[in-house]
Parts: sequence; structure tokens; C-alpha cells
Amino acid sequence: MEIEGANCKYRVSACEDLEQLSVERPIKIDQEISGLDVLVAELHRVFSGDHVNVHDVQKLMAGYKSNPKDWKKYAKFDRFRYTRNLVDEGNGAFNIMILCWGPGHASAIHDHADSHCFMKLLSGSLEEVRYDWPSNVEPEVMRKFKRKNLRRCSNGTDLNITQNGNNIGNGEYQNGEHGNEEYDMQEMEEIGRTRLEIDDVCYINDALGLHRMENPSHVDGAISLHLYCPPFDSCRVFDARTGKPTEAKVTFWSKYGKKIKRVIEANPGGK
Ligand code: SIN
Repeated sequence: MEIEGANCKYRVSACEDLEQLSVERPIKIDQEISGLDVLVAELHRVFSGDHVNVHDVQKLMAGYKSNPKDWKKYAKFDRFRYTRNLVDEGNGAFNIMILCWGPGHASAIHDHADSHCFMKLLSGSLEEVRYDWPSNVEPEVMRKFKRKNLRRCSNGTDLNITQNGNNIGNGEYQNGEHGNEEYDMQEMEEIGRTRLEIDDVCYINDALGLHRMENPSHVDGAISLHLYCPPFDSCRVFDARTGKPTEAKVTFWSKYGKKIKRVIEANPGGK
């Protein structure tokens, strides 16, 4: 797969040719995007075609300069965990959302369900931590990519696949049950860290590894804009100490600026 030219209308595993071209950094901005609504309209235009290059989406996101007046109606924080706030459903081709990270909030290590993930920082600061796949759950697309023996960090620098680290975070995932079956435990390997500053754009898919995001500040919140294509409503989260994956549903805290009413399901057993 030639990452920058990959067609992100389709799942990552549907991209056949595994090549990685050098990435133009910093991303050259062809077009200044004057507001979040203009960005969303441009994305609709681009995604109405059959072929959508990863690079074109990155450029559009980089062309928008963060302005709080555009996104403040979506910026809803929770004290305990980061929130996911839907901005637009992209006619089913993509979804775009604003994530609000309180001080110290972090996501769990997760995959991207074979989709493409673009991220832009709107406010504050965030750290992206990348991990290698545990070998026993590594998808075929990752194995193919590793044969090339090189991966690229989200800011475009090349990286080797040899460092250590661990953690598992909080976030807006609803975890499935942990099974009791035997599991070949494997501590997860950190392969890179990138600090994102306001207006930085980064990209990941399952062929590039797993990641988690973290707000390193103990005082300030952070806000990021995420685009996923195709959209997904569940992914896998991983325990850093064992590499064990758990299927997790992803949910929204608000949609189109309106907080979602949480339905607390009754216990079917009545206990
Ligand atoms: C992230 O850590 O990339 C955010 C995950 C999410 O969409 O909830």
C-alpha cells in the first residue's frame, strides 16, 4: 500500500500494493479552509468521488486553522474521561468528530478496525504513543507492511520497531467481556511517540500499528478533530501488560452539539 495515495474510501486491507513513498513534510497547504463547516463541505465533495487519497484528506485538514468559534459548540468535557462528540456522518463514507480531553485523560491502546484515522489538534497539546501489534493478533495487512521493514511515525519521521513502554487508558469505549481462555501474554512494545501541537495533523491505520492518545497536561484540556473512514462502531482495545485484545464499542457523548441521553439498561435478571 502506498500510504499517501491509498484510497481511503476502502478499508486498509483492501489496498493491495505495499509501497511507502516519502511523505512531503510539513504538509503543503494548497487551499486555506476558512471554517470547520467549510472543511466538512470540502470533505463531502472529496468523498463523493470513487477515489480519495489519504494525502488529499491530510491536506484539507491541514488547510483548516483551528478557530474556537467554529468548534466550541461541540467541545463538551467530562470530568472522568475523554468525550467523543459527533460533528458529521459524511453520508456514511466517513465520520468526523471532536474529542475533548481533560487533564491527564488518555485513550486505551486500540486498533482502527481496518479504517483510516486522521487527527488534527485544535487546542492544547496531545501525545500520540504508538505500539507494535502483539504477534498473536497481528493482522495480515501489518505482516505485509513489516516485510518492508520500515514504518513511519505520525509526523512523517521513519522509525525502528524497537522500544519499550506500557499503559492502558480510559476513554469512551464500552468493553466486552474478558474471556477466561488461555492467552499467550506478551507485553506490548512502544514504537514511537509524537507530541502534537495546535493544527498538526497525523494519520494512522492498522498497517502502521496501534496507538493511544494522552493529554500530558495536569492543568489544561485538549481538543482534537478526528476523521475515520469508513466509519466504525467497534474496535479492539489492548492491555499493555499482556497484549490481550478486547472488543469495545465506541460511543458518542454528544451528536451535532447536543448531549446524548444515556439509557441505563435494566438488569435482565432483575438483581
Ligand atoms: C484516539 O485515541 O485516537 C481516539 C480514539 C477514539 O476515537 O475514541
